[in-house]
Amino acid sequence: METIIEKISKTVEEAFSQCGYDKKYGKTGISNRPDLCQFQCNGSLASAKEYHKAPIAIANEVCEKLAGNPAFSKVEAVAPGFLNINLSDDFLAEHLNEMVGAEKFGLAASEPIKIIVDYGGPNVAKPLHVGHLRAAIIGESVKRICRYMGHEVIGDVHLGDWGLQMGLIITELRHRSPDLCYFDENYTGEYPEEPPFTLSELEEIYPAASARSKEDDAYKEEALLATRKLQAGHRGYRALWQHIMNVSVPDLKKNYADLSVDFDWWKGESSVDDVIPGMVEDMKAGGFAYESEGALVVDVARDDDAKEIPPCMILKSDGASLYTTTDLATLRDRRNTFDPDRVIYVVDKRQEMHFIQVFRTAQKCGIVREGTVLDFLGFGTMNGRDGKPFKTREGGVMRLEVLIDDIRKTMFKKITENHETDPAEAKETSKTVALAAIKYGDLSNQATKDYVFDTDKFTSFEGNTGPYILYTIVRIKSILNKYTASQNDAHLPEKLNPAANEYERALMLVLTKFAQTITAAYDEIAPHRICAYIYDVCNEFNRFYHETRILAEEDEAKKKGWIALLLLTRRILETCIDLLGFTAPEKM
Ligand code: ARG
Repeated sequence: METIIEKISKTVEEAFSQCGYDKKYGKTGISNRPDLCQFQCNGSLASAKEYHKAPIAIANEVCEKLAGNPAFSKVEAVAPGFLNINLSDDFLAEHLNEMVGAEKFGLAASEPIKIIVDYGGPNVAKPLHVGHLRAAIIGESVKRICRYMGHEVIGDVHLGDWGLQMGLIITELRHRSPDLCYFDENYTGEYPEEPPFTLSELEEIYPAASARSKEDDAYKEEALLATRKLQAGHRGYRALWQHIMNVSVPDLKKNYADLSVDFDWWKGESSVDDVIPGMVEDMKAGGFAYESEGALVVDVARDDDAKEIPPCMILKSDGASLYTTTDLATLRDRRNTFDPDRVIYVVDKRQEMHFIQVFRTAQKCGIVREGTVLDFLGFGTMNGRDGKPFKTREGGVMRLEVLIDDIRKTMFKKITENHETDPAEAKETSKTVALAAIKYGDLSNQATKDYVFDTDKFTSFEGNTGPYILYTIVRIKSILNKYTASQNDAHLPEKLNPAANEYERALMLVLTKFAQTITAAYDEIAPHRICAYIYDVCNEFNRFYHETRILAEEDEAKKKGWIALLLLTRRILETCIDLLGFTAPEKM
């Protein structure tokens, strides 16, 4: 199905052509003066040069051709040469009725491609903290948008499970319990099935080890050696590594599930360990990788670089692999197993240089197939109200669980404050609304920018917030339920009538923008586009709602048309929030 813009453009293009002008000048867009008109075409201005005529003269001719066209209620030629256009209510209703019946409200199907979204990126053995929130929330939404566009999409968590942090944990364990069989080089038996630590011990071990390594050089050396031995296949260390994974990953899964974030692949840096040797051999054989000060590197600088791009290090002088190595090997692995056309990384923007190096190396060394699109969506920092990276009141790193719990409590309080509710039900509802508050608060900002996590603002039922969006959806649901209860028929009417007033017309107009919004969100990898759209939809809906007595309407045909409009509004809003990664409750 064509978008409304395509339909209008087609008609205006036709008119340009009938007047003897190139039809390209008929391209029409949304008006930037909504007070004057709904759509506007500026083609007369652009065409004036080619035809040596005053733009207004051209606009007048085209305007005359369009006069009487049933699609429009108004076409005006305005100095110096604009065409201002309003749609007829019949045409608008017809378009929406077409959307009602169309799959995905008429979103044009694109040629499906294979996409991997690499997001989340937690490090095992470290609890998720607020710094992990954006990667999870934005990545999940990007994945859902790609999928909705019709692509074959894999979400990969890409665990940090192979670097120095593993060596640090092993070293700290060794200092604490040197007698464990994992450290006995002569041990040949089976290793215990029970891990030698609990989750909370593990979570305490890592920061302790990390702090010590910063002060104690010998300790740091030990940790580096342990990392190397782990990577080289040390039996005891591999067994410990497995324990760390077994204890840590289920907890990560639970935390992500609480955020409605769901990965198809739980691969990590370690998954590609056996891919590295072959990849390194190929990079050497191809003449791309060379030794520099003992390390193996690939040059990736280009003549036209505005800033210096250092060579990409593939192996350290001690032979250990690095963050770049595992990312490159992961690309090789992905090519062999899934062969993606596009890989989108949703990672903190401070890692931009890493990804420039990885992408260039992958392209230069043929690790990715020619034409594979590699995208880096670098997101900004989540700050507290003081403008500094979000911290606990005591100034520490806040665990994600704590943040989520805080917001849930705030929502619970708000929900139970105003009216009597069953506490169990209110608890469930507050979970749903809290998630919307957190996710919408994040996603409504352009991903690349830093933003302030403002609990008071994000949990408010008013303004551009998740709770406001949900509140609007719940309001629509409640009217629809009341309508159904008043009928013998559970089936809701689906056919909209032409708008009866300006509020209805405004709501209908904003609904027509669904397809172009989703397409833009995909093209720009920009979930905030969807937020801005649903905020408009909710505002227009609420204006309409306040001006219209829907259920009290005596004219049945009129009422049915409104119910159909509400149903479409609800469906569109629910589709959009699903793309953002949250849902609406039944009541709130
Ligand atoms: N684990 C990494 C970190 O904490 C993020 C991983 C991002 N994804 C990737 N393919 N490098 O910094």
